Amino acid sequence: MDSFAFIIHPIDPKRDVSRKYPLLGKVLTENQINFFSTFFPPVYLSEIDGITSAATGKQIKGWFVACPYTPKRMLELPERTVYRKIIQTGRMAEKLGAQILGLGAFTSVVGDAGVTIAEGLAIPVTTGDSYTVSLAVQAIREAAKRMDIRLDQATAAVVGATGAIGRVCAELLAGDVERLILIARDRDRLEALRGRLGGGVRAELIVSTDLEQLARAQLILTVTSAVHDIIRPEYLQPGSIVCDVARPRDVSAMVAAARDDILVIDGGMVNVPGPVDFHFDFGFPEGKAYACMAETMALALEGRFEDYTIGKDITLERVNAITTIAQKHGFRLSGFRSFEREVTEAQIESVRRNAHRAGSARWLHSAGMRCV
Ligand SMILES: NC(=O)c1ccc[n+]([C@@H]2O[C@H](COP(=O)([O-])OP(=O)(O)OC[C@H]3O[C@@H](n4cnc5c(N)ncnc54)[C@H](OP(=O)(O)O)[C@@H]3O)[C@@H](O)[C@H]2O)c1
Repeated sequence: MDSFAFIIHPIDPKRDVSRKYPLLGKVLTENQINFFSTFFPPVYLSEIDGITSAATGKQIKGWFVACPYTPKRMLELPERTVYRKIIQTGRMAEKLGAQILGLGAFTSVVGDAGVTIAEGLAIPVTTGDSYTVSLAVQAIREAAKRMDIRLDQATAAVVGATGAIGRVCAELLAGDVERLILIARDRDRLEALRGRLGGGVRAELIVSTDLEQLARAQLILTVTSAVHDIIRPEYLQPGSIVCDVARPRDVSAMVAAARDDILVIDGGMVNVPGPVDFHFDFGFPEGKAYACMAETMALALEGRFEDYTIGKDITLERVNAITTIAQKHGFRLSGFRSFEREVTEAQIESVRRNAHRAGSARWLHSAGMRCV
């Protein structure tokens, strides 16, 4: 049976360590976990079964293996040290018999995004970023439809627009919307991106290093490599949609708590074809996976055992090709979730109503009237 493996790692240190080691997760502090993760070996997590192609009936099996480093540790340690640990984790996958390896969360962000890791392993590697782009853009288009926001009249923003994932998301959204704000910290790279996206696109392009510009956008796709949340409630306009693809999240939990007039959705959740059992709780409901995991699975179902998405230069061609492969085997954009909970139709309706109310109050305020 063809097979794959996928590397995950602790993102929220206490919560995620508890998933494998309940006692350690309870007694260690976050700082202690960050520190000890440096010396911890790769960890075998589980075998994955039941994934079945909707097109061919082919079944595959897989494994979750864990690289012990937290995002903070991956940014602090020398790149060489981090590569070494990820490659060690990949070797565990090779020994298990995996024919392709997917890199989860920060293991795909660090350094050259999989190039050195692929060189250090005998099996092919993919970051999963091509399908992550596809799903993130599908999710924001679908959410806009559900919130009655017309794409061709909307202002959208991509936060982390110069990153591997953000850049291609921006490229796709620039063909959809009226105005697109590209946000990151480095202005030169933003200007270079604006130059590259260039004239031919539909949207007027604005670049900014200021997150307060988000107040102008109805649609926000955020995908930075920031270690802590960066988007705060006061930045956002009533009725806006924020699709958060970043792990760790970019959106503060305060946004959901403080603003009932905004729709925050997690980017990149996918329904997996077949009676999949991960034998490990990574925080998603049954039968669902991250888009980057789904890319690895779809490649295994297709028998494409090759380095698929590696490096920071993701191409639209690869995004479109993996979208077709995944669609064929039965992977689908899942319903919306927000902070680990399903978003129901009633909640979307309530956000719409609250946004309308907040929008009217704001209009009355700006017209100099008093709201009683
Ligand atoms: N949900 C999924 O299935 C999935 C799959 C793969 C990856 N991811 C996540 O996607 C995220 C991005 O990955 P990537 O490979 O695209 O990373 P990347 O290539 O390193 O790009 C990161 C982007 O974020 C910007 N950035 C970093 N810190 C920032 C801050 N504090 N404020 C504003 N912008 C900031 C960077 O530009 P500046 O340095 O100029 O600010 C850059 O544009 C990561 O969180 C990763 O874990 C999710």
